[in-house]
Amino acid sequence: MSKKAEFASKIGLIAATVGSAIGLGNVWRFPAEAQANGGAAFLIVYVACVLILGIPVMVSEFALGRAGGSDALGAFKQLHAKKGWWVIGGLAIMASYLILSFYMVVAGWTIEYLWDSVTGALYDISNSVSERSAFTDKMVALTQSTWKPLLGTYGVIALNFVILVIGVQKGIERMSNILMPVLFIILLIFTVVAFSLPEAAKGMEFFLKPDFSKLDSAVILNAMGQAFFSLSLGMGILITYGAYFPKSTRLTRTAMTVSLLDMTVAIMMGLIIFPAVTSFGLENEAMRGATLVFVTLPEVFAMMPATQLWSALFFLLLSVAAITSTIAIAEVSVSFMQHRFNLKRTHACTAVLLPIVALSTICSLSQGPWSEFTIFGLTIFDLLDTIATNIMLPVGSIGLCVYMGWFAPKDLLRKQLTNHGSEKSWMCPIVLFIIRYLAPVLILLVLLGNFL
Ligand code: PFF
Repeated sequence: MSKKAEFASKIGLIAATVGSAIGLGNVWRFPAEAQANGGAAFLIVYVACVLILGIPVMVSEFALGRAGGSDALGAFKQLHAKKGWWVIGGLAIMASYLILSFYMVVAGWTIEYLWDSVTGALYDISNSVSERSAFTDKMVALTQSTWKPLLGTYGVIALNFVILVIGVQKGIERMSNILMPVLFIILLIFTVVAFSLPEAAKGMEFFLKPDFSKLDSAVILNAMGQAFFSLSLGMGILITYGAYFPKSTRLTRTAMTVSLLDMTVAIMMGLIIFPAVTSFGLENEAMRGATLVFVTLPEVFAMMPATQLWSALFFLLLSVAAITSTIAIAEVSVSFMQHRFNLKRTHACTAVLLPIVALSTICSLSQGPWSEFTIFGLTIFDLLDTIATNIMLPVGSIGLCVYMGWFAPKDLLRKQLTNHGSEKSWMCPIVLFIIRYLAPVLILLVLLGNFL
């Protein structure tokens, strides 16, 4: 195999890792979860989860990745050739692959909405009885038809292929260096606009003023689940990227920067969405899943001047967030194929993405013409989502914490956190304590909570 891939610059490394974390989880899952779980009370628990659990678990994934110098499964094999710990990595790779198959579908929808915003087709509602039903009709027409949604999905897969084939440094890192600033600029523009809306204060209050009577165990578990989803923990992404970190990278500082930026984006989305929906009287609208971004927000844009401009900017933001995440999720499998089967990058990318074409087609059809076909009452799309996000991710994260906390080679964490003793790391004992005791127990509760 060719020489070891590595990120070229500090900024590029941060941009790529932040790009992997910021995704649909921040832009639509977070506001929807916050609304369903009582607003500010949820926000506080979420922030605590990111700081107390998220950062230490992220540090451990980076440490394992850099020490292993391989892929998410290979890292365990490098460190413990004869033991079965690689199963944890295998599970993470499988989870990420399943997630990729439906994430590509949603990423495809965002691209099509971007296109329809630019052309104006999204706001051509002359044939509809009311605006409200018009946007719901449009979403149904896109997501539930046979071929239309696949166009965007195949487009995203093709884009993934091109960037992944170009490579870690010239593809992933360079793309992130361009797209991450674009994402932050658009976010900033929307935050300013949202602050200037007439009822901004009312929306802000729901999001920022805590009502602790809303706090119950379900809210806490959902906030913890959201923190893990948003930071991409437990799916091998950060182990894979850790292997691309140069020796000099400070892992704790990197994990803090990435987590804080990811959290900032989620909070900014809250600061945009809540003032917007309250200002336009839509606060009682469904915000769950696809409805928030594909129905409620177009309703907001339709009531604003320069509708198409705002709509196009928003769907550009969503597309950038989604695409940078699909690339990171796919890289987990590409890196695995390269190491495991000694494949050239082009062949590894083909081997990973070709089956994704078939899997995402199945996921897309399961939302439309095949929606009658369900397993445990769930479409294939929802079933994959549930298995991967609610079961495999928490199981993988617990496995990682137990391994890194108790069974990894002695001193691995300390050596990685202090860059082999050349730097101080006051975080080391804290990280160790959290991944040994606190994180596995709390993640286990999230896992069990999903079944209650
Ligand atoms: N962290 C990204 C997001 O928030 O969308 C990517 C991601 C992670 C997607 C974990 C899905 C997932 F289960």
